[in-house]
Amino acid sequence: MTPMDRRKNPYAPGAGLQPPELAGRNKLLEEAMIDMDRVLDARPTKGMMMLGLRGVGKTVLLNRLHGIAEEKGFRTANVEAPEGGMLPQLLVPELRQVLYSLDLKASTGQMVRRAASILRNFAAVFKVKVGDIEIGVGEAAGKADTGNLEQDLPDLLIAVCEAAKERNVALAIFLDEVQYLSSGELASLIVACHEVAQRNLPMFFAGAGLPQIAALAGNAKSYAERLFNYPEVGQLDPSAASAALLHPAKREGVELEDGAVQQILHLTERYPYFIQEWGFHVWNSAPASPIKRIDVNEATPGIIAHLDANFFRVRFDRLTPLQQKYLRGMAELGAGPFQTGEIAAKLGVEPASVATVRQQLINKGMVWSQRHGETAFTVPLFDEFMKRQMPTLEKYVPKKRSPRTKGKRDKR
Ligand SMILES: Nc1ncnc2c1ncn2[C@@H]1O[C@H](COP(=O)(O)OP(=O)(O)OP(=O)(O)O)[C@@H](O)[C@H]1O
Ligand SMILES: [Mg+2]
Repeated sequence: MTPMDRRKNPYAPGAGLQPPELAGRNKLLEEAMIDMDRVLDARPTKGMMMLGLRGVGKTVLLNRLHGIAEEKGFRTANVEAPEGGMLPQLLVPELRQVLYSLDLKASTGQMVRRAASILRNFAAVFKVKVGDIEIGVGEAAGKADTGNLEQDLPDLLIAVCEAAKERNVALAIFLDEVQYLSSGELASLIVACHEVAQRNLPMFFAGAGLPQIAALAGNAKSYAERLFNYPEVGQLDPSAASAALLHPAKREGVELEDGAVQQILHLTERYPYFIQEWGFHVWNSAPASPIKRIDVNEATPGIIAHLDANFFRVRFDRLTPLQQKYLRGMAELGAGPFQTGEIAAKLGVEPASVATVRQQLINKGMVWSQRHGETAFTVPLFDEFMKRQMPTLEKYVPKKRSPRTKGKRDKR
């Protein structure tokens, strides 16, 4: 019997924290590495858009790919969209950094300086504040200065890629939380990737976000489905989930009995974030190695209380009372997905009267729709949380809008 040392707890629950064992993602990583090598070899390559629910490990994968790209010598831009988008503000500082790394002042070659001028046009027209871009004005008049993102973003990315090519390097862009881009920004990004690809310029693109992006991208530009691969990032399979628990412990000289592992796989439904939480807390509360099923069971109520108070609760608190009631109605049905009509029926209303609240929940990234007329949670296990948080299903009574407040309500 080895007593447990909390200092050596290997598990890493949290947003974007590299797990001690990146389990079950080798195939995805390998495909991405092949694509990167193809880009470096000037071969045509699709971009990738990783799709998955909350806490499945998308950010961790993007960060890992970012690291790999840097090792391979790519010049990289790595950004995360906040709710409400702001793509120009995100990209300008990163691309500026890229251009600096290409040695702006080198006397040979024109493309880097041209790209810097275009970047400056772009920053000016989209009112992005950046430090000086030390390069003469007027070298690129008429490029990336229309104020129409769908025209200017392609101009900019083409120019940066041409500059990279002139220096014999390639550009890699990593974009997290893609679902938060506005539809115009997403369309511009797609057009830009498309135009860069058509010119066979050296760029690797990897995005990640909630699964609704596939439909959003398709709606923005119909060719988006051919422009990107859409690898799904989801629950781990049982052997990967076991490895995610067992390998890090073993490296610290700690064993888990099979009963303990199976119980954690069952409780977490093999979702990576929950695996880290259970691993972490069970480690801290178990008396000694090997960790047993009973240790898992004893720790579980505390873990659920911890998740409720933190992970689930921060999301719940960002919702209006009507949005909360909608989700509570969904939870009554289970984990989903459900027909939108079924949910309305649970709430005792017509689907049309909850269409707005449903759309707001999609915009906030709380639910998504795989097929027309379907709705599902984006946060795994959220249905069970909703039932703990709001034990009774109340009748849904949408407030009548008075003419004066019309349009002002529910803007959050
Ligand atoms: N393959 C994996 N094996 C084990 N643990 C993982 C794996 N991938 C991610 N994790 C763990 O899962 C948690 C969530 O990871 P991450 O933040 O990357 O998820 P996400 O998909 O970006 O979530 P969100 O949609 O909320 O941004 C982290 O604690 C991370 O260590
Ligand atoms: Mg993330």
